[in-house]
Amino acid sequence: MIFLIVIVLFLTAPTYAHKGMNHKAAVKEESVPFDVTKKIGMDYDLKVKPIFSRSCIHCHGTTNKLPWYYELPGVRSIMSGHIKESKTHLDLSQGYPFKGHGSLKKDLQEIKRVLEDNGMPPWYFRLMHSDAKITKKEHVIIQNWITESIKRLDAKE
Ligand code: HEC
Repeated sequence: MIFLIVIVLFLTAPTYAHKGMNHKAAVKEESVPFDVTKKIGMDYDLKVKPIFSRSCIHCHGTTNKLPWYYELPGVRSIMSGHIKESKTHLDLSQGYPFKGHGSLKKDLQEIKRVLEDNGMPPWYFRLMHSDAKITKKEHVIIQNWITESIKRLDAKE
């Protein structure tokens, strides 16, 4: 029964994505100095990566830790589609700078927005993974990192 619920949730999950945006626009043609992205990346590795590894990487990166229900008939194909879809929006698998479809700054703002809206990880995922929920304290850590990183990106302009 719970399987059916999960499948239905996957199919009907509300989408937080902007609609109709061209994902081919994903190529970044920014020239952010290496030392700026490096500093942001070092902070990310230290503070934020452990949180994202628990709550986001299942869908936004490569992981061997796919959930058990992934193996169920039907679920695999739905999940694969989902993972593909989520990675066109945000790919965390290579660390910082992430691959996304906006500028570096825009991608950070997107992460900030989905977290403020409580949209990520999606609620159906939190339902299945009780540890995926981001705590208040972690929220603050991520938001501080984003604010700081945007400042750094702005300063290079
Ligand atoms: C169960 C899979 C799953 C998990 C876990 C997950 N996401 Fe997502 N995410 C998606 C999917 C699917 C999309 C694209 C469609 C949508 O927006 O619903 C997406 C889209 C996004 C977007 C782009 C929104 C936009 O408008 O372009 C961001 C940013 C994002 N996720 C951040 C995160 C963060 C940060 C986490 C962890 C805290 C996370 N996601 C966890 C599946 C997931």
